[in-house]
Amino acid sequence: MFKIYLASTNSHKAREMGEFLEGVAEVLIHPEYKAPHEDGDSFRENAIIKAKALSRLIPKELVLGEDSGLVVPFLGGAPGVKSHRFSTRGTDLSNIEKLLSALKPASGQERKAYFVSYGVLMRGGKILWEGEGRVEGEITHKPMGEEGFGYDPVFFYPPMKRTFAQLTREEKNRVSHRGRMLSMLKEFLLKNGG
Ligand code: IMP
Repeated sequence: MFKIYLASTNSHKAREMGEFLEGVAEVLIHPEYKAPHEDGDSFRENAIIKAKALSRLIPKELVLGEDSGLVVPFLGGAPGVKSHRFSTRGTDLSNIEKLLSALKPASGQERKAYFVSYGVLMRGGKILWEGEGRVEGEITHKPMGEEGFGYDPVFFYPPMKRTFAQLTREEKNRVSHRGRMLSMLKEFLLKNGG
């Protein structure tokens, strides 16, 4: 069983990831990790910035840097790498409000969006594995559902006819961007002695 430290302070994410990798790896948060300045232009760059910051703190351990966000082509790719601080206040609610208001003139195909999760596994500052997961959906006109976090209440997933906030954690893990990235990571870990 591997022990992986997640370069994040978001316990939601660590819990989701831990459930997904159950039996293969334990996913932990390090109390001394402080989020570095994420100024990369891509999810990959930001995932590397995060992993490196944690790897410097615990060079002997496996660390996972993950960067994720929502991409809306109609908005030129926004919120993108700025997903968590899309609105000035930067709360889930204010981010959703800003997104819905920016998409007021959009209908049909224009409301298409996808989540991206980019993962970088590192030890001692060296990349051992990296991969990207994506899931496509549509932005609703109003929030629906109570589960999850971030943009989940407005991300409608057509194959399940529900928003991500209306799925259980297991259902979301099975189809989400992070779930897809993690299933590739899981495969890598299993091949390498997990
Ligand atoms: P990160 O912590 O820098 O990766 O920020 C990602 C941001 O993208 C989060 O704060 C959310 O706003 C959004 N996001 C990423 N993954 C999800 C998800 O699974 N559901 C909803 N929002 C997400």
